[in-house]
Amino acid sequence: MDVRPATPADRSAIRAVHKAAFGRAHEADIAEALREAGDERISLVASEGDVLVGHVVLSEGRLGDAPVLCLGPIGVVPDRRHSGIGAALMRAALAEAAGSDAGLVVLVGHPAYYPRFGFERARLLGLESEWDVDEPWMALRLPRYDPALRGLVLFPAAFGRRRSSWATRVFSAWRGRTRV
Ligand SMILES: CC(C)(COP(=O)(O)OP(=O)(O)OC[C@H]1O[C@@H](n2cnc3c(N)ncnc32)[C@H](O)[C@@H]1OP(=O)(O)O)[C@@H](O)C(=O)NCCC(=O)NCCS
Repeated sequence: MDVRPATPADRSAIRAVHKAAFGRAHEADIAEALREAGDERISLVASEGDVLVGHVVLSEGRLGDAPVLCLGPIGVVPDRRHSGIGAALMRAALAEAAGSDAGLVVLVGHPAYYPRFGFERARLLGLESEWDVDEPWMALRLPRYDPALRGLVLFPAAFGRRRSSWATRVFSAWRGRTRV
């Protein structure tokens, strides 16, 4: 399994990965809209030979005047899960994020999965999200982190606007599951 930057030739395979991973088109649409809007900053694929088995994207959000990296979607095809592909994508993406001009990576995700990569509850850092979520709202401090980075984080438009039901729907899909 290799992790490498996505190329334009990966476009349809990335779409297929997210559709398989989430069981619907919504996250594939977000990944595509991020790329089309030019908001994508880090986009990595996991491949086994010619077959794509995972993808992660980090896009640029704002915290006042400061850039913030928004992680997601991340997806691994169902039949290749639990073999470290998600972790390999996360580690490679976060290593690249550490060299960026952003001080934070933020996400809305499962509170049981992301802390192992260094994510903590974003509210404890004084960060607010556009959505009504608490525990799933998480942040990772990068080398350029400054405690003055506080306030409302605006995600790229592809995620939908304030109080949209996206985060609520994503998180409710996880509820009751120990694994995805
Ligand atoms: C989340 C996801 C990317 C992880 O990919 P993966 O390749 O299986 O991850 P890894 O093999 O590195 O890690 C697996 C471990 O993560 C943990 N884990 C995975 N999904 C989890 C979840 N939803 N909640 C809590 N822990 C989870 C488990 O501890 C698992 O350990 P195990 O294999 O011993 O059971 C994958 O499950 C996926 O695509 N899920 C559907 C899409 C999704 O929900 N994406 C995240 C939201 S943007």
